[in-house]
Amino acid sequence: MRKERIGFALCGSFCTFEPVLAAMARLAREYDTVQPILSGAAGSVDSRFGAAAEFRARIEAICKRPVWDSLTQVEPIGPKKLLDLLLVAPCTGNTLAKLAAGIADGPVTLACKAQLRNARPVVLAVSTNDGLAANARSIGTLLPRAQLYFVPFGQDDPEKKPTSLVADMSRIPETVAAALEGRQTQPVLR
Ligand SMILES: Cc1cc2nc3c(=O)[nH]c(=O)nc-3n(C[C@H](O)[C@H](O)[C@H](O)COP(=O)(O)O)c2cc1C
Repeated sequence: MRKERIGFALCGSFCTFEPVLAAMARLAREYDTVQPILSGAAGSVDSRFGAAAEFRARIEAICKRPVWDSLTQVEPIGPKKLLDLLLVAPCTGNTLAKLAAGIADGPVTLACKAQLRNARPVVLAVSTNDGLAANARSIGTLLPRAQLYFVPFGQDDPEKKPTSLVADMSRIPETVAAALEGRQTQPVLR
């Protein structure tokens, strides 16, 4: 088992939770420590994709750790250097915009801020309907930032959702492994 400590933060893009949980299971088989973190939306919204409590139970079973979902639980990531890499998958348009603007008002955005303060890697797996609209500029702001890496992403349904972008969640493990070595998995655009 690999010893690098991975933080796995989920935001409220509920349609991607199944492929994201499959990637989580692969990481949990490979790394000793996969610490789940939930945004306020990811931890509380019951949607047509499933109930929040059921997702939380599945996530805790996969990672064999209780979820962190408060500011006080994630804040020590900074001073105590708790994580070697932080993955945000799925990363919503809302969270992309906050990261681009330097806002840290929830468990996922504060975890990112805490990790980046230590100049340690953060990997983003985008999933948002406005990736080629309002949040194109967020992605453009974040792409060249030091310590930020992207799971390869592209348009998921150009005809029906012409501005939607989604990461290929099956490529999370290889993107995490590369980012731990300071490399961006290529090609970034799938
Ligand atoms: C059923 C459902 C599906 C959603 N899917 C997405 C999505 O795929 N991408 C996205 O950016 N936001 C999506 N949202 C909206 C986010 O959940 C919302 O913007 C929320 O404030 C995000 O908060 P967070 O970034 O802190 O998780 C969805 C909301 C609901 C209720």
